[in-house]
This record gives sequence, structure tokens and C-alpha cells, in this order.
Amino acid sequence: MPEPTSLIFDLLPEEIRQSSAIGAEVHLPPGMTLLELDKLTEKDKETLRQALFENQVIVIRKQKGIDATVLPNLAKIFDPSASDIHSAGEKAVSDPKNILSAYKAGRHPKAPQVGIIGSGKFQDYEGLKEIEVVHLDHTLFHEAPLSQDDLDNGYTRPYRWHMDTPFYERLPGEVTILHSIRIPNMPDQKIKFPGGKEKQIAAGATACKSKIRSLFSGARAFALLTPEEQEFAFNTTVTYAPQAYEYIRQCKASEDGLTIPSMGREVSTEQMSEWSWDKVAEHPMVWRNPMNPDRPFLQVHGCCVYKLTTRDPATGEVTVMDDVEQVRNVVYSMQRKIYAAENIYAHRWEEGDLVIFHNRGVMHSITGQLVKYKDDQDKRRMLWQCTMTSTSAPKPFREYGGVNDTGYVKT
Ligand SMILES: [Fe+2]
Repeated sequence: MPEPTSLIFDLLPEEIRQSSAIGAEVHLPPGMTLLELDKLTEKDKETLRQALFENQVIVIRKQKGIDATVLPNLAKIFDPSASDIHSAGEKAVSDPKNILSAYKAGRHPKAPQVGIIGSGKFQDYEGLKEIEVVHLDHTLFHEAPLSQDDLDNGYTRPYRWHMDTPFYERLPGEVTILHSIRIPNMPDQKIKFPGGKEKQIAAGATACKSKIRSLFSGARAFALLTPEEQEFAFNTTVTYAPQAYEYIRQCKASEDGLTIPSMGREVSTEQMSEWSWDKVAEHPMVWRNPMNPDRPFLQVHGCCVYKLTTRDPATGEVTVMDDVEQVRNVVYSMQRKIYAAENIYAHRWEEGDLVIFHNRGVMHSITGQLVKYKDDQDKRRMLWQCTMTSTSAPKPFREYGGVNDTGYVKT
């Protein structure tokens, strides 16, 4: 086989991909060790886009030393309409009502679009005197967390499946980019799935054995629906709760992190920060994605849903479901089918990995229990995370009358 002269990719091995339809590794053009965007040809960029939009998650290995300012420009290869605003807002988050403040997420001094996440305290990092990052885990959010016995035996759960977007005032970015700066060596952890199957998280022979993100593909989730559910999904628009994360701030999730099983803890719309309907997110239930014109993606955040509007394409008749409990149940009955070991991809981190995931094509979740290691200097971990608000709304897979193309509730 002739030596490649340009950027190429191959799919991750079958035993890693399983039924997830996720995962490819990108190899930079010969002679390029760290990614240099200005040296990529148009064909290289097209190959990168193809690798991502077909496989939803791509990894470029050995990128230790890459400049933080490369990440926002890399994101724009996949989303030319991306703004330079981090999905969580322009500044580091100090508002205790904002979900990201729970992570104590800092920002990279050289690139405000790049957040610093992980676990533990770091001194004198890139000009920051001290930065403390907190790894959230399911015990903080699940209605019935794992027992101490299970935790001691190395089990974990996904915290909450989501896309990177606040569902209020800002639109989801096309991609999120993660870069691992420091990945400690830790024992494997396991997830139990319904039916008794287990998935080993972070197993492997490499020295770096920690994973904090699990992902599933919206295309795979759609493919698992019945024909009736698919038709319903094609014709339905999802309205998210006003100030969605404030609304669910005190709520507790199901074991799989996909929904909120009981009502009653929601923050009332009178008690939350100032809001208006024109900033509340409203998206089709099934999204059309770039370079996947024939592949529908079920993209719904099951914890933040508020209202479903369904239009019968034959008659034009519109049905509104605005009972939040019922809305959650309907979405959950569709989405829960994806929650099986073989459909979930968990990245096997190595230091220096640059991982790009298709934020509009997957749902992802923090996974792993790191809190017991938080004061252990050797177990600190750090990643950069670049997620930027897009300026164009997600497109419906099926155009239908009444669908909202702004990404927000029309007032
Ligand atoms: Fe996220």
C-alpha cells in the first residue's frame, strides 16, 4: 500500500465500537506531529469532517503541547457558524444557579472558549495562581444512588445524559473538543445495565486508565425506535423548560441518568432567574446532520424537556402535550432502549488525546467516581474543553409546517 500523503482516518476496532456506531482515529498528514490547521489542505479538512460526522467521535493521539487557541479554530472546521462564546457564557461561571459552577470550571487564560475541567487542585497553571476543578458524579444527582458496597466494588453510573448547551439563550455547538492534559492511572470501574450485562470502563493495557465521558449516538437511538415512534418523533417539536437547568436544579434522576422519574422538586417559573419565552430552547425531536442527509438523529435531553408539539402531516392537526411528567415518560420510553452496554462508547483516555465529539449527534454523560481521589496529588486529572455556541439552529430531519427554525420558542 502506498504511504498516505494526507490526513486519513480509520474506524476504531469492532470490539470497541460494538453497536454504538461511534469512534474513529484520525492520523495527521506525514511530518505533522501536532495539529497545524493552516497546513491542512481543503481535502484534509473534508476528511476530518467526514470522519466526525460519520462516526460522531474522533480522536487524534499524542497532541501534548498543542496551543489552547487551536481548539476554537478546529471547532470552526465543523461549524463555520460557531460564535466565539463558550456554551456556558462568556465568563468563567460563578453564578451558583448555573450548572457549570458546580464543576468550578475555570477558563484557559489564552482562550476564553476553552474551559478547564477535571478533578483536584492545581497551582501556577498557565498563569492561574490556583485552580480547583471538581468531578461531579451520579451520587449527587440520582434518586437512588449506588450503595456504598457497590461503590467500594468499583461500580459507577452515568451522571446525566446531555448535549453541551444550556437550552436557554444559546444554541448547541456542532462539536465539543476535549484535550487531556493529565490522566492519572486508576483502577477500572464498571457500569451495570438492565438485564445484568456489565461494561468495564477504562479497562485496558495502557498506563492511562481513566474515562470520564460516555456517549451514545442519536442515530443509533433513532434506529431502535418502532416505526410508530419514528413517525411520532419526525413530527414532534420539543420545548425545553424555561431556564432548563435551574428548573431541574433540585430534581433527582433515574439510575441510567436519562430522565427524572418523580415530579415535585421542580423550581417554579416564578422563583427562577428572570426569563422570557423568546429565549427558551425549542428544537425538533429528530435532527438532520451535516454529511448525513439520510440518517435521522434522535436528539432530546430527557431531563430538561417541558412540552411536546406534534403535527399530523396528513391533516395538519396539532397535538400539544404539556404535562411535564407525561412528556418525560414519553421521551424516556423512546430513549431508554439505547441504554445497553453495546450501545455506549466510553473513551479510553491517554494523555495528549484530542477528542472531538459531535455534540449534535450524540448524547454524553460524565461517568466515574473520582471523589475518593480528590485530595490525592497523584490522582488529579485535567482536561481542556472547548464548546462554543452556534449561531444556526439544529435542522429538523423532516421539514413540516409549524416547525421552529430559530431554535427558540416563537412569541
Ligand atoms: Fe457535557
